[in-house]
Amino acid sequence: MNLRTSKGRILSGMRPTGPLHIGHLFGALENWRRLQDEGYHCFYMIADWHALSTEYQNPESIKDNVFEIAVDFLSCGLDPKKSVIFIQSNVKEHSELNLIFSMIVPVPWLERNPVYKEQMSELKEKDLNTFGFLGYPVLQAADILIYRADYVPIGVDQLPHLELTREIARRFNFLYGEYFPEPKELLTETPKIPGTDGRKMSKSYGNAIYLKDSEEEISAKVSKMFTDQKRLYRKDPGHPDECAVFAYRQLVSDGIGDIKNKCLNAEIGCTDCKKQMGRDLIEFLRPVQERRKYFSEHREDVWEILHTGSEKAMGFAKQTMKDVQKLVGMEY
Ligand code: TRP
Repeated sequence: MNLRTSKGRILSGMRPTGPLHIGHLFGALENWRRLQDEGYHCFYMIADWHALSTEYQNPESIKDNVFEIAVDFLSCGLDPKKSVIFIQSNVKEHSELNLIFSMIVPVPWLERNPVYKEQMSELKEKDLNTFGFLGYPVLQAADILIYRADYVPIGVDQLPHLELTREIARRFNFLYGEYFPEPKELLTETPKIPGTDGRKMSKSYGNAIYLKDSEEEISAKVSKMFTDQKRLYRKDPGHPDECAVFAYRQLVSDGIGDIKNKCLNAEIGCTDCKKQMGRDLIEFLRPVQERRKYFSEHREDVWEILHTGSEKAMGFAKQTMKDVQKLVGMEY
């Protein structure tokens, strides 16, 4: 990692709440890997404290999920030689900056956060009337600003949190002096990959293809997938832009223009198209799965990578906290 030639600093993170699926791969991890390979100075974090904010009643699975998500990160090509891959709670400075921010963030900013309001009404089975859950985006701002990140690769759902991060940076700078940059979002261009039933891919809908699925599991899931619902007969022209199978083919198959024409002209049937997509998807995921197998069998290596990454992150975070303490006038 060469800091001088770096194009800027990047931070992003994911909550360890379950196995990652191909929606995460195409929607985020491919992007993260590309940024790492393009020479940005990348920090990729497993946000275990953020997981705790919703899982605090049943935290037993967090540790296994941290390990699994680390394996997913590494399998998708995140490289500890190029990126800092670390666990949030290993870098206690995040919580220290979170505390400082909590002094200056007006509560109404948090109460009117659309993500907060939505989750409160959606996750009814959990009691989220907590201080920590209201403060979720403050901790997220600390995650980002402690590395003085220039860019944050995220999905559109996280935009309100990034906007709040910028507001917190501005407020801090106004009160104590210009220090934090205002980080910008990097949205993924990849179209969202639907679940196997055509709805949004999600663990709770049971329509996800996981990075850890075996070839047999992938084939079985693909074979049950819906194809073009408007195409009743083989001789009818297809509607590729409304078809989940075509959405997948765009990501995993070669010669997509040709495939589209064949569909539009009824030169290929849905069953054959779907079978080919399944083969292409398995082929596409093969290198990911090979790395997955390696890391699952070398558990110590994975923990070592996370440990080393956390140390590196901490080195950076400590410097920021020193500066912050000085700016706030509490340097003793
Ligand atoms: N809130 C993010 C999510 O649910 C996870 C996250 C925590 C994060 N801290 C972050 C993302 C910092 C980007 C930057 O996906």
